[in-house]
Amino acid sequence: MTTPTARTAPFAGRTVSRVGYGALQLERLHHSRDEAVALLRRAVELGVDHVDTAQFYGFGFANRVIREALHPEDGVLVVTKVGADPDPGGPMPLRLAQRPEQLRASVEENLRSLGVDRLPVVNLRRLDSGPGLRPDGDQLVDLDDQLDVMTALRDEGKIGAIGLSCVTLDGLRRALPAGIACVQNAYSLVSRDDEELLRLCAAEGIAWVPFFPLGGSFPALPKVTDEPAVHAVAESLGVTPSQVGLAWLLHRAPNVLLIPGTADPAHLEANTAAGRIALDAAALAALDAIESRSADVPIG
Ligand SMILES: NC(=O)c1ccc[n+]([C@@H]2O[C@H](COP(=O)([O-])OP(=O)(O)OC[C@H]3O[C@@H](n4cnc5c(N)ncnc54)[C@H](OP(=O)(O)O)[C@@H]3O)[C@@H](O)[C@H]2O)c1
Repeated sequence: MTTPTARTAPFAGRTVSRVGYGALQLERLHHSRDEAVALLRRAVELGVDHVDTAQFYGFGFANRVIREALHPEDGVLVVTKVGADPDPGGPMPLRLAQRPEQLRASVEENLRSLGVDRLPVVNLRRLDSGPGLRPDGDQLVDLDDQLDVMTALRDEGKIGAIGLSCVTLDGLRRALPAGIACVQNAYSLVSRDDEELLRLCAAEGIAWVPFFPLGGSFPALPKVTDEPAVHAVAESLGVTPSQVGLAWLLHRAPNVLLIPGTADPAHLEANTAAGRIALDAAALAALDAIESRSADVPIG
């Protein structure tokens, strides 16, 4: 039996296509702003109406390109994040900015760079789980203190809805009373640490928007396309292994929204087409049987 998946899902009071676009890889086109703008225009043509970004992607490059490429009439929901700031010249491209006053400053910076007076959804990027940095010193901030400033910013109309990223199950439970629109943790066919969190999101009507849906571009992370079973399913359906990884996510739960990142127009097209791939029970069973490996590894 073939399992169909819905093409759209509710998100932050709207209905969006389940396949969106993650703007992290745009920074690889920093040498050619025209190419980056054209990629986003192509995404809109392909039906993408949800884009994930951050001020620290390419030191502001991603936000500048989004501002230039996307217009209000395109109706694209641009979701940004706070919790880290660009750090040109630093040991890493970003530095943590977890303190409440830093979250507020980062919202202001995103408003300026995106050229809007309200950010429809802002993810508070915690550092409680997932790959990457862990906070220490004054960057160890209580979640409740962060939620206080996020809800104040929502009350002021500067942000429309609050999301959480790199959060634990306990963290999400604590945050539920604040009203959470989405959770963005690392999750893919080959890294399924957060099944329980995904179930809680589904039960609470919260969008699950996994980052690294293909395993990301960092070599240390497990990759969907390394799996022989993924290749076998892809061959049987006449699609690519990456498309199988994305289609599997869409079949996982109806509240899953995708933000695969790419700087390649052909990959962009393939990723949006993955929303139309139906996986039958045998294919899903073969994919479900793939061993999950943790994405909770240092990547900096
Ligand atoms: N909340 C957070 O902390 C956080 C952290 C990281 C990322 N994110 C967000 O999540 C989004 C997705 O993560 P990601 O971009 O790092 O990882 P990803 O989507 O898992 O993978 C991106 C990598 O896969 C390649 N790729 C994409 N589509 C492909 C296709 N159809 N066939 C073959 N290769 C393909 C890309 O290269 P090509 O450019 O060559 O296609 C790139 O190397 C980001 O763009 C960002 O918006 C959020």
